[in-house]
Amino acid sequence: MSTSERALNMPAALITGGHGGIGYECAKQLAGGPRFNLILAGRDLTRVEPAAQRLRIGYGVQVTTLQMDTSSLASVRDAASRCRAMIDRGEVDDLQAILCNAGACIEALNHTPDGYEETFATNHLGHFLLIELLIDRVAENGRVVFTASGTHDPETMDGKLVGAVVQPNAIALANDGKDGRKPTSAGKRYSTSKLCNILHAYELDRRLRRSGSSIASIAFDPGSTAGTGFLRGTPKPVQWLATTAFFGWLQRRLGVTMGDLAFSGACLGKIAADPAFANASGKYFQSDDGRLIEMRSSKMSYDEVLAGRLWNDSKELVHLLSGEESVLLK
Ligand SMILES: NC(=O)c1ccc[n+]([C@@H]2O[C@H](COP(=O)([O-])OP(=O)(O)OC[C@H]3O[C@@H](n4cnc5c(N)ncnc54)[C@H](OP(=O)(O)O)[C@@H]3O)[C@@H](O)[C@H]2O)c1
Repeated sequence: MSTSERALNMPAALITGGHGGIGYECAKQLAGGPRFNLILAGRDLTRVEPAAQRLRIGYGVQVTTLQMDTSSLASVRDAASRCRAMIDRGEVDDLQAILCNAGACIEALNHTPDGYEETFATNHLGHFLLIELLIDRVAENGRVVFTASGTHDPETMDGKLVGAVVQPNAIALANDGKDGRKPTSAGKRYSTSKLCNILHAYELDRRLRRSGSSIASIAFDPGSTAGTGFLRGTPKPVQWLATTAFFGWLQRRLGVTMGDLAFSGACLGKIAADPAFANASGKYFQSDDGRLIEMRSSKMSYDEVLAGRLWNDSKELVHLLSGEESVLLK
């Protein structure tokens, strides 16, 4: 039996940003443990393809690559339609999991070609649109998992160090820094985009439950995790410092949530696939010092009015057409 024949009829997972950092460790977990076929979605296929090839060779699973820039609405629409077509042609099975993992803390204030602030567009809006467009191709009892961050909670050291969240008002966040107004700092833009991930995860859970769906929606904080590409936009000395034992010691002393690249990535994979998380919809998990624990997220993240407003405003910002809206999520 050829590798591709052997690989058919296995559950499939789509991971944004699955070619590096925590996403790649998660891909290894999914390919090696529960043996998922993978769809790795990334903005530059020259970076995605080598990781895909390593996974094919290392685990013998089917790995498909998909060009997708989560900061671009056109790119997300195009990728989602190619993914649906692959599923409809039987080249890939229905998705057992979608992992909204791609993310970045972008120092410079940029606006995407759609006109939206780049951190918010990359971390929240692109994933919002992706889920709207693909939720109908998620299998029964499938899962959607969001890689969030402890920085979303201003009462934790993670949140204090990176920058306390601002109001998760999608229209204001998308238009941050326009018309000469003072922009929010990069840290606050990042923390707030991660709060949006959690508000989105919980609102998605409520809508799925209302429509009688068996799909789960779960949020995960990998903890402060060295060795990923996450700090690539920061000055070189900061990147170096983050890899030192001293920095780890300091973070622990300060009470930062401590992730670990291999462990946090494996946790993300387990949340997406392990039967132990079958009833975890609407919950928030954290990887901290080698333990995977269920936690309460911030007070604001449970505000259903804020979540509903974020949902409706996000729908407006992504210009969701009536034919694109899933009946599962109305
Ligand atoms: N590391 C930490 O301490 C930490 C802590 C809490 C939460 N997180 C979250 O964990 C997730 C993974 O981060 P990481 O630490 O593993 O960093 P990473 O190695 O930089 O991984 C981020 C991934 O997102 C992708 N990405 C970024 N912008 C994108 C875009 N516009 N379109 C498509 N893909 C894009 C990157 O692809 P490219 O190769 O194209 O850049 C990369 O594969 C992120 O959501 C991050 O917010 C990280």
